[in-house]
Amino acid sequence: MILGLETSCDETAAALVTDEGEIRSSIVSSQAELHARYGGVVPEVASRRHLELVTPVIREALGDADATLEDVDRIAVTQGPGLIGALLVGLAAAKAVAWSRHLPLVPVDHLDGHVASLYLQPDPLEPPFLCLLASGGHTMLLDVRSHSEHVLLGSTLDDAAGEAFDKGARLLGLGYPGGREIDRLAHDGNPNAFEFPVARVPGLDFSFSGLKTALLYAVRDLGAEGLEARRADLAASYQQAIVRALAERVREGAKGTNRDRVAIVGGVAANSALRAALPDATAAPLALCTDNAAMIASAARWAEPLPYPRYLALDAYASR
Ligand code: KG4
Ligand code: ZN
Repeated sequence: MILGLETSCDETAAALVTDEGEIRSSIVSSQAELHARYGGVVPEVASRRHLELVTPVIREALGDADATLEDVDRIAVTQGPGLIGALLVGLAAAKAVAWSRHLPLVPVDHLDGHVASLYLQPDPLEPPFLCLLASGGHTMLLDVRSHSEHVLLGSTLDDAAGEAFDKGARLLGLGYPGGREIDRLAHDGNPNAFEFPVARVPGLDFSFSGLKTALLYAVRDLGAEGLEARRADLAASYQQAIVRALAERVREGAKGTNRDRVAIVGGVAANSALRAALPDATAAPLALCTDNAAMIASAARWAEPLPYPRYLALDAYASR
């Protein structure tokens, strides 16, 4: 079994996954509430909380799987990209556990982890396919050629899709993290009530910063009372603009690469409107869209482990 660890942002997560991709346990302890009052993740606060949570979360993952460290034959951990202080906590914990049992360690790229969320049981997707990875930090269109090889076709020129959701939610006076809040509120709103622009950028890239500015002006023009009355319409219209931009690029990418299968992963793949806009796409299960450690363990199945004790000097990286 593989013990996976993930601490790149504000989720402390541990999971046990078999070599066949069966999830034996997956624990995610979200710090969202802790950061909500600041309206976003505070890196130093996140690191300290990871430090408190990492050992109990590993214990819980082992307990849930009815396993001990005896049953683990390698450790997988997110090495980057993410908040450097947060990553270091997971990496240090992974090294310590691996070193104490003389186990090999697999450093995993967080974005490869999101793609590998599609390779878990009970319905693993087999490459090749076109994949939209949309999270709080990244928006990328990938041509996934094999379990260990993908080509970047497009990415965001400014904000990530999840960031656009989070910043939009903030403008609308909703809580953090904003994507889920907008998703929920949008059900009560009219997506055609406001005309928000979808940026046209060349190729298969994305851009969301103009959209955020358009929402800012709409909110300002409405005033406090108007915002109160139209909040659901704003959420629905704003969400529709993001979803349209994403879905359009997925369709263009599929056409350009001749891929007949498409998949969506990352936190934004949990969005109900996006899932509805791409009915033929394989979406990662909801619990595996947002950050978790099962996807990290899953990605480790196709990576070369570093033998004991070669990983002790391994460093985390903030960006790719
Ligand atoms: O993948 P993830 O958990 O963390 C990163 O790697 O960034 O993605 C988090 C992002 C946040 O921006 C959050 O607002 C967004 O995913 N998100 C959603 C939904 N659930 C989470 N966005 C839109 N609709 C949702 N239902
Ligand atoms: Zn993520």
